[in-house]
Amino acid sequence: MLEAEKIKSNWETYRERVNSLFPDRAPQLNKLYDEYEDRIVMMPASSIAHFHNAFGGGYVDHVLRVMDCTEKLYNAWQDMGADMSGYSKEEMLFAAMHHDLGKCGFPGKGSEVYQVETSDWHRKNMGRMYKHNENIPFTMVPDLSIYLLQEYDIKLSWNEYQAIKIHHGIYDDANKPYFIARTAQAKLKTNLPLILHHADHMASQIEYETWRNVKNNSPSPVSPKAKATKSTALKNLAEQNPSIDASIKDIFSTFNEE
Ligand SMILES: [Fe+2]
Repeated sequence: MLEAEKIKSNWETYRERVNSLFPDRAPQLNKLYDEYEDRIVMMPASSIAHFHNAFGGGYVDHVLRVMDCTEKLYNAWQDMGADMSGYSKEEMLFAAMHHDLGKCGFPGKGSEVYQVETSDWHRKNMGRMYKHNENIPFTMVPDLSIYLLQEYDIKLSWNEYQAIKIHHGIYDDANKPYFIARTAQAKLKTNLPLILHHADHMASQIEYETWRNVKNNSPSPVSPKAKATKSTALKNLAEQNPSIDASIKDIFSTFNEE
């Protein structure tokens, strides 16, 4: 779980990165993020506890980690002699920041993807911390990511579009023609989609391991064990946020009791 202070600082970092990394598109991006702020700040990155970051603030935390992993992997590939031409760092970080944007749902009240699971049975026995909103169209996350960006008149380069679209790699059968090329012409023109896919995989695995180690009460070798502490700030954050329903507020209160 994340403490309120971490959720706040993550969001401040996120918004600062929008302005510093993508200044030409910042006005449109800020419009999107202003309108989605209440939803994004507290949303998870997934719905099931053993997936990754299935808790309040998990989405922003995941995206920031993917951006950091992307930069690390870019440097590793470069150090090992890979051809880093054909795309810019702005394109790489833009794709990293927006690869999962579709998890934020459709525009409009009541159109979020993740809703807090209020069934104790599903939470305890299935680890289902959130359920999917049944009142929005089914969509694959990358498709909704791209849809949302065009809804807010945010232009994408081909490199950005492709990296977001196929970031699940061959975990999505529809991506196979891009990754299993049968001709030289069909090969990916840059290594950006591979780097983003690997960065997303790395970040998700780290988040899973953190959850597993906390659950097993064994300290993580890579990061301090997340520890719930009494924090009135987290409760305040929930109470000040009108988009968060009562059930979430109850859960935050529970998290603060140790
Ligand atoms: Fe992701």
